[in-house]
Amino acid sequence: MKMDSRLILALDETDVPKALHVLDEVCGIIDAVKINWPLILSAGPEIITTLSQKADVICDFKIADIPNTDRLIIEQSVKRGASGVIVHAFTGTDSLKECVSAAGGRDVFVVTEMSHPGGQEFTAKHAEEFAAMAAECGASGLIAPATRPERIKKIKESAPGLLILSPGVGAQGGSASNAVLNGADYVIVGRSIYGSSDPKDAAQKLADEIKALRF
Ligand code: XMP
Repeated sequence: MKMDSRLILALDETDVPKALHVLDEVCGIIDAVKINWPLILSAGPEIITTLSQKADVICDFKIADIPNTDRLIIEQSVKRGASGVIVHAFTGTDSLKECVSAAGGRDVFVVTEMSHPGGQEFTAKHAEEFAAMAAECGASGLIAPATRPERIKKIKESAPGLLILSPGVGAQGGSASNAVLNGADYVIVGRSIYGSSDPKDAAQKLADEIKALRF
């Protein structure tokens, strides 16, 4: 995945023509597009291939199963054009190792502490362990909460070599600058871009905000 704007679009728009229009508007700004069940269930899995012709596609299926099922899901995602997948860590080392193996060099991003308030109930208690396990299993990166930027820093300390992708900017209250200043390599933004009356302008403003931090 390229690292230019450090902005990843979460395209949870379920109106398919609108989703395609939003991506066309912003694909020159973003580094990748992340898709989740809302768009897949609306458009069908062939949307992975369609979008992959415009941008790198991260399939956010939050895969969390036995190793064999994880492998089957990831193989289908990759076959359709995914350049990365998002997986859960609580399933344990054998599942996570199988995810990395099945991805065959594509990126595997591992959920640590989730960005919503409920993320503090269970995931926060194990976030550092999840991060260390992800590094041990050969994952590319971690998902850590922009809603609690101080936690990004702690999670990164447990797996310093891994990329951090940070959702929770905008609609969930987090700030792109705070996330990046605390160690996020990329921010993931959904509603604040695809729900905006001017998605291109919204994406450009976020890209400019991150660029102003001067890497
Ligand atoms: P919004 O509209 O809130 O969209 O900008 C955020 C996107 O990111 C996903 N999301 C998460 N994914 N761990 C994840 O793996 C998280 O903690 C997390 N928080 C939000 C969400 O599903 C949406 O696609």
